[in-house]
Amino acid sequence: MDAHYPLFDQPDAYPYVVGSHRVPIRVDPTDVLPPSEATLAIAEAIVGMRARRALDIGTGSGMLAILMQRSGCEEVWGVDINPRAIKCAAANIRRNGMNAPTHLKCVDVRGWLPGERFDLIVGNAPFMPVPSGMQIISEGINWAVNGGEDGTVGLIEFECAASRLLADGGRYVFALPHFVDYEKVLQTLRGSFAVRKIAGTVMSYWPPDWEDACNSHMESLVRSGTAQVWREDGIVKSVLDILVATRLRKGDEGSPSA
Ligand SMILES: C[S@@+](CC[C@H](N)C(=O)[O-])C[C@H]1O[C@@H](n2cnc3c(N)ncnc32)[C@H](O)[C@@H]1O
Repeated sequence: MDAHYPLFDQPDAYPYVVGSHRVPIRVDPTDVLPPSEATLAIAEAIVGMRARRALDIGTGSGMLAILMQRSGCEEVWGVDINPRAIKCAAANIRRNGMNAPTHLKCVDVRGWLPGERFDLIVGNAPFMPVPSGMQIISEGINWAVNGGEDGTVGLIEFECAASRLLADGGRYVFALPHFVDYEKVLQTLRGSFAVRKIAGTVMSYWPPDWEDACNSHMESLVRSGTAQVWREDGIVKSVLDILVATRLRKGDEGSPSA
């Protein structure tokens, strides 16, 4: 994967390539997070995963929903708390000429109660550790990246939603960076899910010109031993795992998860 990605530098639709799929995506990066390294790593992992009902939690640009539909998922939903993300996803779905409708809904997934459960859910949650009380760039970007003081808040909220919305035997695919407390995040899934790693990459998701307060917050997490990161050419890097959590069927609960 390219070390540089066009995060905040996207004048026009950018032709992302995932497997054999070319996915042109356009966002207004002041309001909606463009596909990131985490998005691309999840995207590569879900190509070819089929399901009858699939959901992209926090769809943002819509890229993962588009790929789920291209992979043959029959009914695809994308939800986002940010109304500008929903508009952006709708435009990208049109741009990619999807022939079956994708259902988009502006909703806070924490309280969402759709009538039916899903067989496949993907969720690229906000996971940046951000000092409390600080908003990043704009409301939309803050929703997209702010994972709370230790970076785990959004990951756990998305997991809880997936846990509520998945059918027995259904799969939740998500990205987990090593700079957050890994065990704390996985704890939520223990007992009801079997968890395994399906891909991993190195991410340079923490640019040196990020907000000063965030940089010093990250430095303090590094000093406390919480964040597993290193620097290469001035860029902070970390390992990012892509995990799949399979919801155990009734009677299988309590089986160990990896
Ligand atoms: C890291 S971005 C991922 C965007 C896109 N899926 C991608 O991978 O590029 C997280 C997304 O989740 C949305 N989000 C955050 N909290 C949410 C919530 N409680 N309910 C629904 N969407 C939420 C944000 O607005 C943002 O679009």
